[in-house]
Amino acid sequence: MSTVDALKQRLQELKKERRAIVLAHYYQRDEIQDVADYIGDSFGLSQQAAATDAEVIVFCGVHFMAESAAILSPEKIVLLPEPRAGCPMADMIDIGGLRAFKAQHPGAAIVSYVNTSAAVKAESDICCTSSNAVKVVNSLDTDKVIFTPDRNLGRYVAQHTDKEIIVWEGYCHTHDHLTLEQFERIKAEHPGAPTVVHPECRPEVSAAADHVSSTAGILKFVRESDATEFIIGTEGGILHVMQQQNPGKKFYLASPDLICPNMKANTLEKTVHALEVMQPRITVPEDIRNKAVRALDRMLAIK
Ligand code: 13P
Ligand code: SF4
Repeated sequence: MSTVDALKQRLQELKKERRAIVLAHYYQRDEIQDVADYIGDSFGLSQQAAATDAEVIVFCGVHFMAESAAILSPEKIVLLPEPRAGCPMADMIDIGGLRAFKAQHPGAAIVSYVNTSAAVKAESDICCTSSNAVKVVNSLDTDKVIFTPDRNLGRYVAQHTDKEIIVWEGYCHTHDHLTLEQFERIKAEHPGAPTVVHPECRPEVSAAADHVSSTAGILKFVRESDATEFIIGTEGGILHVMQQQNPGKKFYLASPDLICPNMKANTLEKTVHALEVMQPRITVPEDIRNKAVRALDRMLAIK
């Protein structure tokens, strides 16, 4: 038996023993997606984390995702196979900075992308993901909104709402790295291929794309399109499931640099080890959790 097969077999045994499920984001390594009980975008993963009756959640994603699972399901044990798998964008805002920003914009509601720490969520009125950001902002009864921490998603939302959006200047290195010049070059190489990008891309890239959507939305667009070739502007891990769902179609990643090292930090070996030793465990202090859960629950309640 190969090492990978042996690891997969051990994972199945441990999942039964520990009453555990494995949740994985679409940006995870292929071999992790292959063993996951559920693969999804940030919104779908939060829904799963809130609804599962498993006793242990092994979260194959980045720190803020595991933290959200711990906020939504405090009675469960949440494991993150590689504890150093953080999100650099989430680290671009802290509680002190947010409070100071809030003081400069009195009366504005705070909408925080789930790519934030539990402490920032606790200070926010509501959370959002890239799949519901416009809906969340439009659901609020204030005309002025502080949007944190992604400036690119914030600007995308501003184009789809009448509310005044004040953006925090954070960004995702992986998506923000894609320039309009690179995007135009790959479009010229594959004329006629529809282009679909994530809203974490720069505004000029999103403006030049045929469709802008969360990872789950990108997959839906590709599945439902009659086209046979596509240019994809998001993290390359998504191509694994995309190819499985569309065996007859061809995909071109808009840039070879569309890889998030943090998402790739989890491995199959570390996933098995985490369940073996029931570590590293992600927890949130109860006072922060009590406040952060309100912002996540408000988001999950929006249909
Ligand atoms: P979604 O899967 O919600 O589109 O999120 C993208 C992302 O960058 C997560 O870190
Ligand atoms: Fe953070 Fe970007 Fe990586 Fe997502 S892809 S975890 S937003 S750095």
